[in-house]
Order: sequence, then C-alpha cells, then structure tokens
Amino acid sequence: MKLDPAGIAAVRTHLLGPDGASLIDYMFRLNTGGDVSAVSGDTRAASRDLGWTDAADQLTGIGSFAADSCREYVFWTERDRDLPFKGIGGLTREYFAGKAVVEVGAGMGANLMSLGATVTDLSGVEPLEIYSQMGGILREREGLAPVDVRTGSGEQIPFPDGRFDVVLCVTAHQYMDICPALKELARVLKPGGELIIIGGTLDRYVKDAMAAFPANLKAHVITVVNTLGYTALRRRIIPGRGAATTSRPIYPLPATMQRWMQQAGLQPKSPLLKVDTETIFQSKRTQQINQ
Ligand SMILES: C[S@@+](CC[C@H](N)C(=O)[O-])C[C@H]1O[C@@H](n2cnc3c(N)ncnc32)[C@H](O)[C@@H]1O
Repeated sequence: MKLDPAGIAAVRTHLLGPDGASLIDYMFRLNTGGDVSAVSGDTRAASRDLGWTDAADQLTGIGSFAADSCREYVFWTERDRDLPFKGIGGLTREYFAGKAVVEVGAGMGANLMSLGATVTDLSGVEPLEIYSQMGGILREREGLAPVDVRTGSGEQIPFPDGRFDVVLCVTAHQYMDICPALKELARVLKPGGELIIIGGTLDRYVKDAMAAFPANLKAHVITVVNTLGYTALRRRIIPGRGAATTSRPIYPLPATMQRWMQQAGLQPKSPLLKVDTETIFQSKRTQQINQ
C-alpha cells in the first residue's frame, strides 16, 4: 500500500496547511474510537477528498493506514516527542548519540523523529510504504530533517553487512519470521554492535488476554496457537493472508527469544528489563554469525 505522487501532494497540502491539526485530530479520534461529533464539515470534507473516509464518514482501507500514522504522531507529541522507553536501562536519546542506528519496522517513524535530535547517522526500514510516506510528511510538519527510510523487512534489510552500531526494533518483531529475521538483523550489525528488541512476550500476552476474557477470544487463541506452533515448527500454523507485513503476531517466551538470539550469533544480555508490558531484549553481535 502506497501513495502515488498526486496522493503525496494532496496529503502534504492538507497536513502542512492551516487545517492540518484538525485533520490529524479527526483521524486520531476515528482510529481510537473517540468522539467525532464536533468535527467540522471542512475537516470531514478534507478527509473524504483524500479518500481517507467514505460518504458515511467511515475510514477506508488507505484511511486506516493514514489514521494509524496520525495516532502514532499524536501519541509521540503527547510523550513530549521523546522515545517511549522512558530511559529504562539507560535507553535515552543520548544513549544513541554518535552511533549508526537503524530502526527496523519503523512504522511512521515516531522513534526516528525522537532519535533525530541526537543521532546523525540514522536510518529506517519499513515494509509498508504508506507509513514511511505519512511519516515523511509528518516530519516535514515538525520541521525535522528527512531520514533515509527504505522499504524492506526484518527478513530482508536493504543495507549492507556490518553497517550499524545499533539495530532497534520496537513492537515489530512479533510480525516477523523471527528466526531468519534475527540472523538478518545481526548481519547488518558491526561486530560488537547491539540489537535492541522491545516487545511483548507470551507470558504477559496470556495474562492480559485472561484479564480481558472473553474479549477478542478468537484472535487471542490464534496468537497463542501461532506462537506455540512457531516455537515448535518455525512457522505460523494459522498464517495471515498476504506477505510478511500481514503475518499474524507471535509472542515468544523470553527464554525462547534468548535461545534464538544466540543461534543467530547474538549474545543476549541479562537480566531482561521491562517497559510497561514490553520486554527489552538487548544483545550484542558476536564476531561469528552462525548460518
Ligand atoms: C506496531 S508497529 C510499530 C512501529 C514503530 N516501531 C513504533 O514503535 O512506533 C509495527 C510495525 O512493524 C511493521 N512490520 C510488519 N511486518 C514486518 C516485518 N516482517 N519486518 C519489519 N517490520 C514489519 C509494520 O508495518 C508496522 O509498521
């Protein structure tokens, strides 16, 4: 999914214009189930003009991706434009200063926007071009310099071997074919470079699903079956339709992730730290990558 040049021009006109804030707020509300009763006719018309909502003011397919991007942008502004890790484990913006950093599964690039304040050699990888395109326009809205965000995935990273000091994955590893992806993430690290994966694990996922029982029961069962299936067979038993980007999530147990990291030539750091419900997996690339 991506915008054509005319689509990019239209989105820029709206998001960088005087009504950009209202349109972003409207998308945020539609995405998060907020109250839209006070949204003006002009803002609704702008959204329809972009094809983001239909005649019934419901999000369209492309509108859903645009709304995801606006939601992440609003969350980013609400956390003072900072990283979401709250400096846990010393992972402040300053931690990344002077390093060559790539975020894989960057989405619209909220973390890249934060890191741009301290990191000069900064890149991103994201499979869905619409997110990168929306992120580029939102960066422009913030007056931030562009970042080299390439279309790719955790399984296929369009950068050469040993390019980075740090590879960052924030709530994205669950969508990957994680075992080959770990080798690929290790490949683009310099020897001694660091992989930081922040995301959910099965123990926490099940706890949260039980607390919300019976909400989303079918989706939770699929996720657990896929996670156990992947752990045993290295494949999702109930795959999503389409390419890697639409794979259903898996949430391996912490010990399983650490074993797979070792198998990919990474030396995991212990003990594991947490940010809210997410676990921080830090590991270093050893000299030798096991193929
Ligand atoms: C929950 S979002 C997180 C975005 C961003 N890291 C953040 O923290 O705001 C997950 C992202 O992973 C991307 N993704 C899905 N499959 C992927 C894959 N196989 N490799 C890399 N990224 C993937 C999605 O397109 C999406 O942008």
